[in-house]
Amino acid sequence: MNDRLFSGIRPTGEIHIGNYLGAIKNWADLQANYESFFCIVDYHAITTPFIPAEMQAKIREMAIGIISCGVDPEKSTLFIQSHVSEHTELSWILSSVTNFNWLTGMIQFKEKSDQHPENINASLFAYPVLQTADIALYNAKKVPVGEDQIQHIELARDVIRKFNFNYTNVLIEPEALITKAKRIMGLDGINKMSKTLNNDISIIDSSDVIFQKLRPAMTDPARVRKTDPGDPEKCNVYLSYHKNFSNEETLGIVREGCTTASIGCIDCKKLLHKGMNEHLEPIREKYNKIALDKNYITDILDYGAKKAKTVASKTLEDVKKSMGLK
Ligand code: TRP
Ligand code: SF4
Repeated sequence: MNDRLFSGIRPTGEIHIGNYLGAIKNWADLQANYESFFCIVDYHAITTPFIPAEMQAKIREMAIGIISCGVDPEKSTLFIQSHVSEHTELSWILSSVTNFNWLTGMIQFKEKSDQHPENINASLFAYPVLQTADIALYNAKKVPVGEDQIQHIELARDVIRKFNFNYTNVLIEPEALITKAKRIMGLDGINKMSKTLNNDISIIDSSDVIFQKLRPAMTDPARVRKTDPGDPEKCNVYLSYHKNFSNEETLGIVREGCTTASIGCIDCKKLLHKGMNEHLEPIREKYNKIALDKNYITDILDYGAKKAKTVASKTLEDVKKSMGLK
């Protein structure tokens, strides 16, 4: 059987092209070579402020988006974290082999604490232990993540190693599979793409909306007038979007046209729009079709939770036995 792979994503609702290029496209590519578990981590989402009335819609939008981007629920297991109670149970157990000092060094904890100084809670602090439990329950060898998660995967390895040392060797130390796509910056060219910052393009934005958003997008600041030459390597429109959505031919035209000032930014964005829209159109259509059938996604997530639970409950049994809890 293929090696196991696990990854998780927060239920932020609509997927933007940063999530798509940074994570979900990669999941869809990897599922052919691994026995894959993909989890929408609602218990991680509650570590920072959230709106209860919006939670279910966000989870569903995320699930429909993941499938629309090519994750095949017949091949991979797609499920919601809180539907498989073993995650929180193992998290508690693993927190007993996690040094307090390991957690105090986590960059994401510091960042999130700075963002929400009014709500620095224990779950935010213990977040990486839950993430470790997510991975360990499925004995996943590979964990596709962005660079910002490397520290959490290192911590997971430390926690699992300590568990195996203290008790029986039942858990597998995972390895990060670092996603190649660079950080996708938002339309402002300053911040990482994010829905809350309103600098994003959604995978289901219509062709017109995509262009309306691209039109004012930040370009190389050197191009004040159309006659000023620019440098694509200093332009977010080129680096974050063209490079991911345009073919080699278009990229060549853009590089040449930009450096010689023979193409204006609006025409350059029109070229981008064409490639981006062609790429996203099938995803958008699939999304709109799935969204019409309310039961479809519920059934998939129920099925996924059952499959996940079969594996997770067996691991938890082994863990408990090795600790004398059974
Ligand atoms: N912490 C991850 C993030 O913020 C999400 C996540 C939760 C995750 N559990 C995971 C990623 C397990 C990989 C494996 O992106
Ligand atoms: Fe960016 Fe294209 Fe304008 Fe050059 S022409 S600055 S690559 S948008």
